[in-house]
Amino acid sequence: MSDRAGSPSQAELAAGGEAPTRRDFLTLTTAAFGLLGAGIVAWPMIDSMNPSADVLALSTVDVDLSPVQVGQRITATWRGKPIFIDRRTRQEVAEARAADHSPTLIDPATDASRVKRQPWLVVIGICTHLGCVPLGQKPGDPRGPYGGYFCPCHGSIYDTAGRVRHGPAPKNLYLPPYEFRSDTKLRIG
Ligand code: FES
Repeated sequence: MSDRAGSPSQAELAAGGEAPTRRDFLTLTTAAFGLLGAGIVAWPMIDSMNPSADVLALSTVDVDLSPVQVGQRITATWRGKPIFIDRRTRQEVAEARAADHSPTLIDPATDASRVKRQPWLVVIGICTHLGCVPLGQKPGDPRGPYGGYFCPCHGSIYDTAGRVRHGPAPKNLYLPPYEFRSDTKLRIG
């Protein structure tokens, strides 16, 4: 019992009444240093989770479209993915539009909803079935009956808007984020 408020009694002192106070101080001090130490140890790990400058640079890719001829397809790389860029011919655009409302579309979408600036088609060149890279970018590649892309892994077929027309792929080729900075400058990402 304390003889006055805040003053430990003789018995408490004899029983080590101050010991908890000292122990608490040591415990708090140890915990504080422990947290500080954990912070010092964790910082390099947390810091390493921020994207480095070269990764940030790869988050956008600029493509010069000026050398691309009508009917030519080129492939850019964005974040490790192939990006198919197709300067489609008038006939290819017309064929894509003609199929806009076809009941045979597996993943219905209009050509206009998939293209930001005609005649350019810009899609991620990865099959939506199991991730193979479809053929059709190079002259002489098989393109399938719709003139788009043919996936050699399991036979999926895409049209000139990158829409899947024959499975097993369930979805159209995905569109990357991109914008036209000018008539001949494309920024992906
Ligand atoms: S990965 Fe393309 S059809 Fe299977």
